[in-house]
Amino acid sequence: MEGETTSSNSHSTSLGVELALRRVAVLGATGMMGQTFVRLLEHHPWFQVTAVSASDRSVGRPYSEAVPSSNGTGVSSIVGNLPVVVPTPQAVNDPDIVFSALPADIAGPIEEKFAREGFPVFSNASSHRMDPDVPLLNPEVNSSHGGLLDQQRKRKKWDGCIVTNPNCTTATLLHLCKLYQEQDTPE
Ligand SMILES: NC(=O)c1ccc[n+]([C@@H]2O[C@H](COP(=O)([O-])OP(=O)(O)OC[C@H]3O[C@@H](n4cnc5c(N)ncnc54)[C@H](OP(=O)(O)O)[C@@H]3O)[C@@H](O)[C@H]2O)c1
Repeated sequence: MEGETTSSNSHSTSLGVELALRRVAVLGATGMMGQTFVRLLEHHPWFQVTAVSASDRSVGRPYSEAVPSSNGTGVSSIVGNLPVVVPTPQAVNDPDIVFSALPADIAGPIEEKFAREGFPVFSNASSHRMDPDVPLLNPEVNSSHGGLLDQQRKRKKWDGCIVTNPNCTTATLLHLCKLYQEQDTPE
């Protein structure tokens, strides 16, 4: 981010405002998408990866050892030394935000548990994509659908939330559709 500097627990904006880093837990952190989340977040000026979670196969191991060999080498020592934990609200060290890269066949109830405990969950899994009150968000295209979260919280009676994204093929296509829609005289 232009004009921003980071320190260990906060970042200072171009207006000189000091903001606390948002603490992030990544579920499914040892998988293909989870590793991408970690790579994008660990040096991001707004976020701090404070918990990584995966299956029993990985739980208890340092993250850098739990990811498939060679993939762990690029991880910073701070994240690399985090112990992998089970995907429960109690285990993830009180994050501000949860990113989920869990397999779709198990993500549904786990993500709901986090939302019920008050955590905002942003998921790559398909489990909740078709729920009527869950935003299926592609921010450049439909950011206003975030407004659904009020309904979701009311209907589900939880303080957290679940937000999903489209699968990668659809996400790319939607950008093109949006451009097409914005043309005055499409051919
Ligand atoms: N939106 C998109 O564009 C997009 C693109 C690709 C994938 N996805 C979705 O993202 C999700 C992850 O995909 P992936 O390809 O990264 O999968 P993956 O490589 O198989 O990784 C699965 C992750 O989930 C963990 N896991 C598996 N079973 C578990 C259990 N019972 N309890 C707790 N953790 C468990 C695995 O931990 P271990 O390593 O310990 O087994 C691993 O960290 C899927 O839902 C997929 O459909 C979305």
